[in-house]
Amino acid sequence: MNAQVTNPLSQEILIVDDNPENLRLLSQILEEEDYKVRISKSGHQALKIIEKKTPDLMLLDIMMPDLDGFEVYEEVKKRIDKPFPVIFISAMNFVKQKLKAFQSGAVDYIEKPFYVEEVKARVKSHLTIEDQKRELELKNLELKKAKEKLKQAERFALIGEITAKVTHEINNPINFISLGAQSMVQESQEVTRMCDQVYNIIKSTANKELLEEIDRAYEQSEFAETKEGLIEISNHVNQGAKRVGKLIGNLKQNLISNAKEKALFNPNKSIEEACEIVEMLSNKNFRMKKDLKAECELLTFEQNFFQILLNIIKNAEEAIPDQGGELTLSSRCKQNLLHITIGDNGQGIKEKEIGKIFAPSYTTKKKQGGTGLGLAITKELLNEVGANFDVESKMGKTRFNLTFDLAR
Ligand SMILES: Nc1ncnc2c1ncn2[C@@H]1O[C@H](COP(=O)(O)OP(=O)(O)O)[C@@H](O)[C@H]1O
Ligand SMILES: [Mg+2]
Repeated sequence: MNAQVTNPLSQEILIVDDNPENLRLLSQILEEEDYKVRISKSGHQALKIIEKKTPDLMLLDIMMPDLDGFEVYEEVKKRIDKPFPVIFISAMNFVKQKLKAFQSGAVDYIEKPFYVEEVKARVKSHLTIEDQKRELELKNLELKKAKEKLKQAERFALIGEITAKVTHEINNPINFISLGAQSMVQESQEVTRMCDQVYNIIKSTANKELLEEIDRAYEQSEFAETKEGLIEISNHVNQGAKRVGKLIGNLKQNLISNAKEKALFNPNKSIEEACEIVEMLSNKNFRMKKDLKAECELLTFEQNFFQILLNIIKNAEEAIPDQGGELTLSSRCKQNLLHITIGDNGQGIKEKEIGKIFAPSYTTKKKQGGTGLGLAITKELLNEVGANFDVESKMGKTRFNLTFDLAR
């Protein structure tokens, strides 16, 4: 590992010893090495210093009048969450004493009288180990985050794959259902028309008894409602099937295509279709104001472009209150640039949060199942296509501005 040894000037060493001569000598040695040195003549004073600011390393004498070194170290461990290396320094050079020091968690033990070079070497080596430990912890944390990200990505890839398969499987049956539902509307209208015709024929024969019997049977079976219901229900089935068919078709075309090549396309179609999906999936009552006047063609992966829009428009829809609001979309081509804006009059984004919204896992919608990945992916896709983007927001209004380069 390539540990970056921290500059001694930024490392603080606390020396605790009741002997002023020792304190003076040790300070001098370590100051010569450019460490920042703090001293304490007693255990109590040392605890106060540490509570204010933890040092990077402590040289701790064992035999002191008030609290001895072991007691000081026990107190430190109780009071401080973040551990730092402690080296005991003592004239009591029994093996038992040394063992006690190491068992308490000290990283080293220096015997008095000490050798200057030995103190320097041991301090330096423990600070280096500490640096390496910190670096390792940081790397571990990064690794853990990367692993989590990978797991999320795998999960999403799997969901994407399943969605693609399900969409593919649903596509054909939904077309049958849709066609069937259309015929059902026509046939049920035809059946009721025929019933009415037969009834009128019987009526015209003036067979009173038969007519009364038919009227009774009609009444008993609530035939009038059944007729109306039949037409109404088949209309609903037809509308529902059409809606699902359109959604599936839209998803299949825009999200699940495996286009390996960039294509030239008019952006307005993607914007319209992304809006359509968001509208279909929403149960809010909102208006969409579209002002799509881009009359140019963009050369990029259509699927990526669609995903960018879908994420931003979906967020806009999620930001507006349940009782309703307004989404505004505009597109323009000017001087080889395509400008798209997506605005909403929803809850807005706090100024200090704006910088965070593109970070992976940043979400204010945890309860509603938000993952925080939408804008992180959007940012990557925008960077991939070389688009510029910014977000303006104040309470009650948000606008995403996207600019794509049309030069090929
Ligand atoms: N139009 C918007 N209005 C208000 N907040 C927004 C808007 N777009 C994004 N945000 C904020 O950015 C966060 C991150 O968005 P995103 O990455 O798509 O994750 P998610 O939608 O899963 O929360 C959202 O949780 C929300 O706080
Ligand atoms: Mg989102």
